[in-house]
Amino acid sequence: MALGIFAKTKVCCVIGDPIEHSMSPAVQNAALAEAGIDAVYVAFKVRKEECKRALGGMRALGILGANVTVPDKVEALACVDELDALAEWIGAVNTIKNDNGKLIGFNTDGLGALNALGESGTETRGKRILVIGAGGAAKAVALTLAKEGRVSEIVIANRTRENAKELAREVEDKTRVKTRFFGLGEGELKKAVGMSDILVNCTSVGMSPNSRETPVPKNLLRRELTVFDIVYNPLETRLLREAREVGCKTVSGDSMLVHQGAKAFEIWFGRKPDVGVMREAMLGELKKKK
Ligand code: ATR
Repeated sequence: MALGIFAKTKVCCVIGDPIEHSMSPAVQNAALAEAGIDAVYVAFKVRKEECKRALGGMRALGILGANVTVPDKVEALACVDELDALAEWIGAVNTIKNDNGKLIGFNTDGLGALNALGESGTETRGKRILVIGAGGAAKAVALTLAKEGRVSEIVIANRTRENAKELAREVEDKTRVKTRFFGLGEGELKKAVGMSDILVNCTSVGMSPNSRETPVPKNLLRRELTVFDIVYNPLETRLLREAREVGCKTVSGDSMLVHQGAKAFEIWFGRKPDVGVMREAMLGELKKKK
């Protein structure tokens, strides 16, 4: 909880729709309390059509910072006054800082994924990374890993093959890292998984309430593979459970959420939050949902 709400208390928020399930208020308020910062973090349900007006409100009310989630991430790109280089390059904004009325857009999704892998002791250098999915999350993860992860190759596999092709081309054009693309048919997926060192699920397949689903059948997994699922509800998705059973190293999605939130906190307050406190708050929220 925040320390108390007074006239000087700063406000940060998350906007998106749906937003009721968001873990960010619990996670950020725990970090604020731990750091003794006089600020509070709340959630606003904002439809895509209202994104521009909501950000105008942010300027008018002097709201210090915002996280932007689905479906507002691309819309927000056009509504801010200035873009951080990484957000401009990725083409989506998930964090905004209000600098005396000037809104600056950032993207911390990809860095969150990179830091989650780093924290788990997974080396990305020289590795072939398989990204499952070609939507907004996949794009931020693939581009950031290609730019910052010193990877040897990015492999994209997606249900709609055309979208995989488009993202693979964008990654190659922007980073000069070699790419390949596949569909999700069993033969193609087998090839994609077989050639990769690290698999990252960037689709919502396996997310509650569809927790019996998995984007990759168990028989395609092998123990040398590191498997990272950005889905955090449930904490251990079917993909991660089966990967663990096969003997793979696994990285769960809570790690990415916590690290992208930590990066946002740093952007707003100019100091690093206690990541352990953020993770504890998130696990507490997840337990309540069970
Ligand atoms: P986000 O911003 O969370 O990435 P998105 O942009 O809507 O969301 O992207 C969703 C991704 O999950 C897409 O790659 C989508 O595949 P398509 O390009 O074929 O639409 C993938 N996806 C969603 N549901 C899926 C399912 N049931 N099976 C396989 N892929 C799925």
